[in-house]
Amino acid sequence: MAILRGKIMVLGVCGGIAAYKSAELIRLLIKQGVSVQVVMTVNATHFITPLTLQVLSDRPVCVDLFDRGMETEIGHIQVARGAQAAVIAPATANVIAKLAAGIADDYLTTVMLAVTSPVLICPAMNSAMYMHPATRRNLDILRGFGHAILEPECGELACKEQGPGRLPEPATIVEALRRLLTAPSLAGKKVLVSAGPTWEAFDPARFITNPSSGKMGYALAAEAARRQAEVELVSGPSALTPAPGITCHRVTSAAEMNAAITSLAATMDIVVMSAAVSDYRPAVAAPRKLKKDDRDLTVRFERTPDILAGLGQRKTARQVLVGFAAETENLLTNATEKLRRKNCDLIVANDLTEADAGFATDTNRVKVIYADGRVEPLPCISKTDLAALLWDRIEAVARS
Ligand code: CTP
Repeated sequence: MAILRGKIMVLGVCGGIAAYKSAELIRLLIKQGVSVQVVMTVNATHFITPLTLQVLSDRPVCVDLFDRGMETEIGHIQVARGAQAAVIAPATANVIAKLAAGIADDYLTTVMLAVTSPVLICPAMNSAMYMHPATRRNLDILRGFGHAILEPECGELACKEQGPGRLPEPATIVEALRRLLTAPSLAGKKVLVSAGPTWEAFDPARFITNPSSGKMGYALAAEAARRQAEVELVSGPSALTPAPGITCHRVTSAAEMNAAITSLAATMDIVVMSAAVSDYRPAVAAPRKLKKDDRDLTVRFERTPDILAGLGQRKTARQVLVGFAAETENLLTNATEKLRRKNCDLIVANDLTEADAGFATDTNRVKVIYADGRVEPLPCISKTDLAALLWDRIEAVARS
């Protein structure tokens, strides 16, 4: 399920210009159901006020180790003990150096020395400071402690220099936290996911397609990457950006999707066909735009390759093949028939007549159908959360 929901997390904020981004980070974490305990360095309070972060996190902010009121209320060891994850964003060169040396001379460094949960460090600083051998060495020491490091992004920095050092956007930090906390249950597995619609052109200016946005497929690819699979995403036209670490192959038509998938599939452990592939394409694609006249236009359509059926024919015993079924009637009968005809191990059946399910929605409600005839209805949840439930089931089939 949603890996961040209900977690207690320490957010360390250091004194750098990027400290302002911690406000948005808290907002995003709270939205994901995380309880955020903010711990600031004194320097950080020059960049953003504890009051702002206290209001956003709905908890007192820890700054002063010798604040008697605060120590009776929370206590720094209790903060460390209660944490199920700790993230420092932004992490300055100074705090990184102190953590590497085991120095505990303020609230944040003391808590960090006592924390036993997974830790994510998000460095942000001037490029020269980031590239300095002392910082490189200190980060290597932190890696050696088992801490995850989210590399800073390149770009124009507050000091007007160009280079690495910029704190990644809060959404990227949240994704890094999801990865930190997700068990690597697909490590060593090669996974192929298809996503989005296809466009079938009948002239350079017109094509037929369907309302698929790619959200379900991109969510499945992101979850597989969090579980540390090697992920190939074959995507039809979609406005979405794949999660970090995924190899994305962008295609337009069913024929292109078929070629991309066919060349990759043989070496894959698991293939998930969540793309909404067009079943028909115009038999003739005009090289120039068709000019209109007073008559009606008749276009003849021909079949596109059924990619999933082809995968089913070539499937090896060790490969797990997952299909989707989009139905508007007789959901179970039609989806079960597709599972058999296309030789799938599991099929995810969507009822397109339901308002909160199917194309382009943020939520989905599906039934999972297994090769042995079992049918498992899943609750209506976000596509991100559903992706985790589906991978739990796909992994169970792969193990059986
Ligand atoms: N699919 C495919 N190639 C196609 C059409 C569909 O690989 N040309 C895959 C889809 O990615 C999905 C599964 O087949 O995993 C079922 O797709 P769906 O559109 O529900 O069914 P169809 O096989 O196209 O049958 P129908 O349109 O008659 O329901």
